[in-house]
Amino acid sequence: MKKLTGPFTQILPLTGLPLKGPLKDSQLQIIKNAWVLSNNDRIITIGTLERLRKDHPSAQITEIIGDRVLLPGFIDCHTHICFAGNRANDYALRSSGKSYTDIAKAGGGIWDTVTATRAASEATLVELLVKRADRHLSEGVSIIEVKSGYGLSVEQELKQLRAIKEASYKTKATLVATCLAAHMLPKDFEGTRSEYLDDVLKNLLPIVKKENLATRVDIFVEDGAFKPETAMNFLQKAKEMGFAVTVHADQFTTGGSELAAEVGAVSADHLEATKDRDIKLLAKSETVAVALPGASLGLGMQYAPARKLLNAGACLAIASDWNPGSAPMGDLLMQAAVLGAAEKLSAAEVFAGLTFRAAQALRLTNRGTLATGTPADFHMYPTNDYREILYNQGKLRPLIK
Ligand code: NIG
Ligand code: FE
Repeated sequence: MKKLTGPFTQILPLTGLPLKGPLKDSQLQIIKNAWVLSNNDRIITIGTLERLRKDHPSAQITEIIGDRVLLPGFIDCHTHICFAGNRANDYALRSSGKSYTDIAKAGGGIWDTVTATRAASEATLVELLVKRADRHLSEGVSIIEVKSGYGLSVEQELKQLRAIKEASYKTKATLVATCLAAHMLPKDFEGTRSEYLDDVLKNLLPIVKKENLATRVDIFVEDGAFKPETAMNFLQKAKEMGFAVTVHADQFTTGGSELAAEVGAVSADHLEATKDRDIKLLAKSETVAVALPGASLGLGMQYAPARKLLNAGACLAIASDWNPGSAPMGDLLMQAAVLGAAEKLSAAEVFAGLTFRAAQALRLTNRGTLATGTPADFHMYPTNDYREILYNQGKLRPLIK
């Protein structure tokens, strides 16, 4: 059914902008006092009421009262929101001076969440995930990538991935699953890191493929997790099996983003420790650089060099990394606004990073803009000036459609 919705004070379709490099706010197309014509939840066009009503007299009209700015739904291309338990204890330890890696070495960290997630039933995981996805949706995020990685055995990773699939039927947000069985060497695995990765390749990924549980594979490249050399072999084999690959890269030490660019990963995420040399490699590649300001805030550490990455010509996306350890807050808009202020990003760069550039990190074509033919996935903010959205640093929330 054809629908005409409006008027909107400003519509930012975010179309016609380059995928890589810096953006100025003057490049943003701002359509004023316009209406959206959609058909079966796909956008046909944006224009004035007079013209659209004349051309489409049968369209059902929904009138919006008050100032509204319209943006495409946000895309959070990196989360770990399928988990049980919490890590308030880690947070308290970090705030009193212990480091993330020290806590992990002392037996806390990711393994704590693995224990809690293994103990939870699939139904409990579905329930927790749906709640978090619905909260994200109410805050303007309509597509959410969700990683496994708190199961760390064939059976437990499958439980997590099946929970993500099941949850995708129970939330209106779109969930994109990623297998992160290579999050760390599980403490109960008898063998080396390479043997564990071989086990994932041989015994887990074929089932993931057969059951269509995920099309993406991730690995944490870091001291204490997996070394770049070991990760290279794993990622190449995962690619040969037909998975898109992505890397947790340069969070504390370098090596990960270089590997990501070399192996043709769709994205390299974190980048807090990324150096100028890596920035150049990423900028030359098709690998999307994903900044995770929520992890910097959660760990009290520096942000990814977002400004430098854009200036060098990289494609920069911004994601929440929502997880129980390093990024428990999960407020993507607030985090993106704060990153923008710290790294001197234009509103155009921030919104691009939350929409069509994040879609590129997930290789989703046709998402993250309000172009003709794309799903009518938009959120409206109660203001007459799009700049107020970042200015309010997350406190100006979209209204439910
Ligand atoms: O992206 N760095 C590795 N993985 C997650 C954290 C997961 C956790 O601490 O539970 C991250 O920050
Ligand atoms: Fe992460």
